[in-house]
Amino acid sequence: MIILMLTCGVFLLFHNSVCQDTNAVPRGLPPRIRQLSLLNTPIENVPGSDFLTLECIASGNPEPTIEWSFNNVKFIPNKTFNGIIGSPIRHKIQGSILTITNIKGKSDGDANLYDTGRYRCIATNEIGIVFDEIFINVRVIGAFRPGFQYENEPNYIRPLIGQKLIIPCPNHKKGYGSSIRWGIVSSERKIDYWYPGYYPHVFQTSSGSLVYSVVLENDIKESLSNGGLRCILINNGYTIFSNQQVLYEAYDIKQEKRKPELLALLDPEMIAPINSTYSMICGALGDPVPTYRWEYQGVEIVPLRPGGNKLNFEFFEFLPNRLELRISRVTQYSGGTFKCYASNELGEASTIGQLSVAYPPVFNTFFPNEINVPYGKAFEIRCNATGFPFPNFEWYHNGTKLTMKDARRSWTDNKDKHGSVLSFTQISFIHEGVYICVAINSQDTITQSTFIRVQGMAPL
Ligand SMILES: *[C@@H]1O[C@H](CO)[C@@H](O)[C@H](O)[C@H]1NC(C)=O
Ligand SMILES: *[C@@H]1O[C@H](CO)[C@@H](O)[C@H](O)[C@H]1NC(C)=O
Ligand SMILES: *[C@@H]1O[C@H](CO)[C@@H](O)[C@H](O)[C@H]1NC(C)=O
Ligand SMILES: *[C@@H]1O[C@H](CO)[C@@H](O)[C@H](O)[C@H]1NC(C)=O
Repeated sequence: MIILMLTCGVFLLFHNSVCQDTNAVPRGLPPRIRQLSLLNTPIENVPGSDFLTLECIASGNPEPTIEWSFNNVKFIPNKTFNGIIGSPIRHKIQGSILTITNIKGKSDGDANLYDTGRYRCIATNEIGIVFDEIFINVRVIGAFRPGFQYENEPNYIRPLIGQKLIIPCPNHKKGYGSSIRWGIVSSERKIDYWYPGYYPHVFQTSSGSLVYSVVLENDIKESLSNGGLRCILINNGYTIFSNQQVLYEAYDIKQEKRKPELLALLDPEMIAPINSTYSMICGALGDPVPTYRWEYQGVEIVPLRPGGNKLNFEFFEFLPNRLELRISRVTQYSGGTFKCYASNELGEASTIGQLSVAYPPVFNTFFPNEINVPYGKAFEIRCNATGFPFPNFEWYHNGTKLTMKDARRSWTDNKDKHGSVLSFTQISFIHEGVYICVAINSQDTITQSTFIRVQGMAPL
């Protein structure tokens, strides 16, 4: 009897002291990544921009150590990436900063993405491991091939007056993230003005070709006086110019009336990132030169006041020729159906496109720092994030991606568009640790983490 009471007392005492100890001795804090950011805009082949710098700020107790990986392969200080012998060391890790020099991005006809991919900052302390990551698309400015560059001889074109004329953007390597515009460039390599935009008979197609719906006599005079248009590759403010394309003399005159025939069509499925500027061009051949009108969600896009520039939809604007509609800032309300009509006295043609707004994933709910689950119990946790395109989800345990579902631990795909649920049918100690949920779409990657602690059986 006494012995029993004693053991009980000892047990209780022991139990209490354990409780007090765990309360008194700080258990520390699992690591957290406060911020992971790209500090510059990397562009291949632009001196002064052909590197990337990432900064990762983490906290935790004890203070976590920081490591970096690219597409799941760790960067080791002073060692070539992925152990590739003979390749130069392009990365440098200094404190919270990772720098990669001589970066290279994807280019046409080459499936390799090079430095484009998932960069991860991994923070580890004795309590756990967490990471955050960022998808970096390395921009490539593109280039004109020899013979078609700024300093090369102009290309002389003899058009038929009264007929259409299509001038392709001279032979070039496309780049990545570059766009094409035509314009007049000064001898100091400054853009004097962009060309399509003013006259209703000149526009460009999605492939970057310059189109005259019909060549007018005045086009030749103008081309001779301004020296000819150049095709311009633009990437994040950097520009590369082609040689001049000069209309120097009429080959012949051949006028004939033709009804509009659309050559620059709206993309049937347009996707514009939120907060970006988005342009759509509608352009048709035809004589007389077609005139244009546009509709958004079945409502004609018109100036608020006759002759004014402000339109009846916020952030929408036309270039003077009304062939190009610009949304100066894409918002969550910019999506919808756009329709453009080109008409002249002989007929009308139209093109239609659906715009969707892409936005990065955002978590709707956040995990607590720590979750205590009694041993053997069923448990589930939902990672709730929205975004467009709808995000995909990944789960990590102690820094390792979960790949094998089993009877006791599984997770769902984002089928219901409400995220992914990680569930345990009977939790046990091997399930303990830091869990990270990653939500990814084309716009961004976000992560959140929690520490799932499995509690032993409660004493009787
Ligand atoms: C890597 O090399 C640099 C310069 O040679 C040196 O300062 C640094 O300590 C080295 N880092 C490691 C982790 O060996
Ligand atoms: C878009 O811009 C608004 C206003 O500047 C800002 O509050 C918001 O965070 C931005 N959204 C994204 C996804 O960048
Ligand atoms: C996800 O979050 C949204 C926004 O907070 C909420 O309306 C929705 O009910 C959540 N869904 C689930 C299944 O938790
Ligand atoms: C994960 O980490 C926790 C706590 O650090 C540990 O108890 C658990 O055994 C680890 N599990 C695995 C599978 O690494």
